[in-house]
Amino acid sequence: YPKIGIIGAMDEEIKRFLNHIDNPKTVVKAGIQFYEGNFYDTKVVLCKSGVGKVNAAICSQILIDTFRVGAIIFTGVAGALHPELQIGDILISTDCMHHDMDATALGFDKGMIPYDKISIFKADHQLINLASNASEKWFKGHTRKGRVLSGDQFIADREIVRNLHEQLGGDCTEMEGAAVAQVCSMNEVPFVIIRSMSDKADGSANVNFAEFVVQASQHSYQIVEHMFKNI
Ligand code: ADE
Repeated sequence: YPKIGIIGAMDEEIKRFLNHIDNPKTVVKAGIQFYEGNFYDTKVVLCKSGVGKVNAAICSQILIDTFRVGAIIFTGVAGALHPELQIGDILISTDCMHHDMDATALGFDKGMIPYDKISIFKADHQLINLASNASEKWFKGHTRKGRVLSGDQFIADREIVRNLHEQLGGDCTEMEGAAVAQVCSMNEVPFVIIRSMSDKADGSANVNFAEFVVQASQHSYQIVEHMFKNI
């Protein structure tokens, strides 16, 4: 990978990277700040996309068009959907889907983008393996591979969690991954989404998110850091 884009949605999710990129060249585009430099001997472009799918999509397309990255890694926190994922655990994306894409009234399956006839965006095998190896070697908590469900919604309801898990096969939910995944797929750029659970997307999600966002962001960072040590 000659150059890799690293995206986080919030300051908390990118700040540890900034400590390891010496004298980054900073560029602002579409109101998003990009930091170009070296991270463990690999050329990277780090950025804070902001929250939500539109922010993540714009950020990804800029990384591809302007910065010419050959791969994108998203790092951050999510709400757990799989019952075995606990707060602090890691999910490595095998694929992503928009849980709020709903044209079922037109006869399309939930998540299906009408006429594109696609709903599932597959992550890159090599990046998945890099993340998986990093987690096996360095992460003491539990790691799963699975499906990331994204929507412009902070989920805080047990019934919705059950539906997203049982009907769409989601393992965690967040607000950017599927947008990054779709942009990468449309441009044939490999990607992977790394998420650590800040909450369980249930009635306590708002309280848990506030309490665990720092710790979960750090776990996700640690996986990505060790990925780069092995590139
Ligand atoms: N990111 C972290 N927790 C989340 C949740 N419960 N819903 C959506 N995005 C999240």
